[in-house]
Amino acid sequence: MQTYTTINQIREVLAQQRQQGHTIGFVPTLGNLHEGHMALIRAARAAADCVVASVFVNPMQFAANEDLDAYPRTLEADKEKLVAEGADFLFAPTAREMYPEGVSTQITIPVLSNILCGASRPGHFTGVATICAKLFNIIQPNVSMFGEKDYQQLTIIRHMVNDLCIPVSIVGVQTGRAEDGLALSSRNTYLTAEERQKAPEIYRSLITTKEAIKNGIRDYYQLEQAANKRLANAGFKPDYFHVLNRNSLETANSADRKLIILAAAQLGKARLIDNLQLDI
Ligand code: PAF
Repeated sequence: MQTYTTINQIREVLAQQRQQGHTIGFVPTLGNLHEGHMALIRAARAAADCVVASVFVNPMQFAANEDLDAYPRTLEADKEKLVAEGADFLFAPTAREMYPEGVSTQITIPVLSNILCGASRPGHFTGVATICAKLFNIIQPNVSMFGEKDYQQLTIIRHMVNDLCIPVSIVGVQTGRAEDGLALSSRNTYLTAEERQKAPEIYRSLITTKEAIKNGIRDYYQLEQAANKRLANAGFKPDYFHVLNRNSLETANSADRKLIILAAAQLGKARLIDNLQLDI
C-alpha cells in the first residue's frame, strides 16, 4: 500500500489508475480503524479494481466543546490493518493540506443536518458534507463506502451527491457489531470497563422496539418513551430514540412501511449511536 499526504500526489497516482481503466473504490475515515472499517474496505475491494482509504481527523466536523484533541490517532496501526485488508492507497493529509486558507466554502444540507445528531451537534454535518465533497473531488471515486451505523450521515451524503451531481455511487455497509451486539465505533475506546458492560443496552433497546413493531404495536411515541426510560435506568443520558421513515428521516406514520429506529445516548465520555432497519 502506498501512502500519500498531499492532494497533488494522490491525484497523480489515481489519474494513472484511471488511465489503466481501473475503477476506484473509496473509504473515507477518521482513522482509529476497527473491524467495521475493514468491512468497508472489503466492500470497496469487491466493488472496484483499486481501493483507496483516507485517514483524516476533520477539524471542521468537531464543535469547540467536542473531542477533536482526544480523538484517537493511530496512523501506524491503521496502516497495518489497511495493508492486511489489501487496500492499495492511503491518503492521510494534514489539516493544513486540506484547509490551507481555513474554510470559506461550506456545504450544508438543510433540514436533514439539523435533526437527530445535528440538533445536539450544530455544524457537524456541514463539516462532514464539506470534507466528503472535497475528498470526492480529490479521489474521484466510482464508488464510496459508508457505514450504516452513521445512518444520518449516509443519508446526507446520498442527498449531497445527488443534489450536486457528484458522479459517485454511495454504498451503505451493514453495521459491524461486537458479540454482545454493541455497534463497533472508535469512540467505544472512551468507555470504562463498567460502561462497556452496560453499552449493549442501546442495541437491546433497539431490538425490543423492533420486536414490538413486528408484533403489531404502532404507537411509536410510546415505544420511544419506553426505550428512553430504559436507557436512562441503565445509566445512559439518552439524546434521542426515534422510529422514522427510512428515506426521509421524518416521523413514521401508520402508512410507512420502510422504517428505521435510531438511537443516540451518552454513556460516560462516549456518545453512542446505533440503529436498526425494518420493513413492515
Ligand atoms: O464517519 C466518518 O468517519 C467521518 O464522518 C467521515 C465520513 C470520514 C468524514 O470525515
